[in-house]
Amino acid sequence: MNNAENDAEQKTILVAVLLHLGYNIQQLWIINNTFYIGGNNMLVNAKDMLDKAKAGHYAVGQFNINNLEWTKSILLTAQELNSPVILGVSEGAGKYMTGFKTVAAMVKAMDEELGITVPVATHLDHGTYEGCYKCIKAGFTSIMFDGSSLPIDENVAKTKELVAVAHNLGMSIEAEVGAIGGEEDGVVGQGECADPDECKSVADLGVDMLAAGIGNIHGKYPANWAGLSFETLDAIQKKTGKMPLVLHGGTGIPDDMIKKAIDLGVSKINVNTECQLSFAAATREYIEAGKDNEGKGYDPRKLLAPGAEAIKATVKEKMELFGSVNKA
Ligand code: 13P
Repeated sequence: MNNAENDAEQKTILVAVLLHLGYNIQQLWIINNTFYIGGNNMLVNAKDMLDKAKAGHYAVGQFNINNLEWTKSILLTAQELNSPVILGVSEGAGKYMTGFKTVAAMVKAMDEELGITVPVATHLDHGTYEGCYKCIKAGFTSIMFDGSSLPIDENVAKTKELVAVAHNLGMSIEAEVGAIGGEEDGVVGQGECADPDECKSVADLGVDMLAAGIGNIHGKYPANWAGLSFETLDAIQKKTGKMPLVLHGGTGIPDDMIKKAIDLGVSKINVNTECQLSFAAATREYIEAGKDNEGKGYDPRKLLAPGAEAIKATVKEKMELFGSVNKA
């Protein structure tokens, strides 16, 4: 039996076993003798929602998750506002939650148990090459390969490979050109502006969305921040046409700049720090008011409730600003 026949036979056996176990298999893919299963959940990839956002001149929020409370707050708000949503998971947050398999299983189960009907994608944020494969294996619906620190040739080669793998599994993929400034989970960037020609060549590799540095920074913006470079964004959008563009570092960008960025082709905006700040402020208020010492106020279901509500309020505010309400 040759390799192809052997793979086909193994695939047939595996499909039979998985169907017997009740899996709903839409995609099966073999890479180096490892099986990857896609489409086994209610979650969707980010392509359709972002193509619609680009055409409709609004943006879908990517809200990063850190734990169960974060996930629940974001899913419930998306459902309440009838908005599509992308749950971002950095490699650090994935590790914190004990691994991408835990995250994928938690989101899938929570989406079902809460009866969420709006489109939800699970997306790796700033993935390494290895991290992308881990998320593919874990059953994420979308990945970001951040090859921005690699020489452009290597970034292109790895992006190309991951585009083929992701698309064969029905997943969407984001690439990055021009480092995003600031620090997120150990990923440090200088906030440079991307070269529009490089953006065009990476967009042509078939990615579904493109993150391009336009002076944006992860975390809080410094008082002397120069603002977004709309000139760069405009040039990138002209070169990349219909490609949905991604704005990282959504925390603290003034509303008028967000609106202008959406006008110039931004269809996905990432927010992480702002939810962390609202959660921390609400939790601090609860503890400083001594509420953890009142009755059973120390119960995590009570102690974490104000923070969870604060995340909901932040997500709601962003979805309204981004224009994704009632776009599910
Ligand atoms: P902020 O933490 O600045 O909101 O950025 C989030 C982000 O870009 C995730 O990739």
